[in-house]
Amino acid sequence: MSKIAVFISGGGSNLQSIIDKTKMENSSYQIDIVLADRECFGIERAKLNGIENKVIDRKIYRENLSKEIFKILRNRDIDLIVLAGFLSILDEDFINSWRNKIINIHPSLLPKFGGAGMYGIKVHEAVINAKEKESGCTVHYVEAGIDTGNIIEQIRVPVYEKDTPEILQKRVLEKEHLLLPKTIEKILKKGVK
Ligand code: GRF
Repeated sequence: MSKIAVFISGGGSNLQSIIDKTKMENSSYQIDIVLADRECFGIERAKLNGIENKVIDRKIYRENLSKEIFKILRNRDIDLIVLAGFLSILDEDFINSWRNKIINIHPSLLPKFGGAGMYGIKVHEAVINAKEKESGCTVHYVEAGIDTGNIIEQIRVPVYEKDTPEILQKRVLEKEHLLLPKTIEKILKKGVK
């Protein structure tokens, strides 16, 4: 059974989709620990499901956040780190030590609508302002840049003229909940590159 660590900063609906998958008979992984960079509802989801969890407050650790996370994960035999709505930026040393073992989910069809400042509802506002006909979500490997790194899987959704950013966000989020657990399984079954 593979072991994953999930990093979050918010509501944790993507975390929930991963938890739900681990409860299915054919799941090939378990969640070893959930880490958050702030108090958030996602941590409650971990607690409710009896999963080890920890808040490493970004306001306390600041530039030492990555080092603190590194210490927690050391000796845990984690196969894959999943960023599921994690808003802090991990430093280069951390990313290099976990090269090709960190994935992120982003609510757009990268490379479009990614990068600094592109998170949450802002992504969907930008998609609508650009009059895109489709959007979607992307799971990609994490590199030192923001939302760069090889794309692993995407799901596309249509964008309709009458869409508000909130409606589009909901349509994309439903697909994220399918894409993330499925992609984790795929990576772990193949063996992490
Ligand atoms: C998702 O849209 C994800 O793509 C992005 O942050 C959001 C997190 O939502 N990186 P949740 O906390 O999983 O509900």
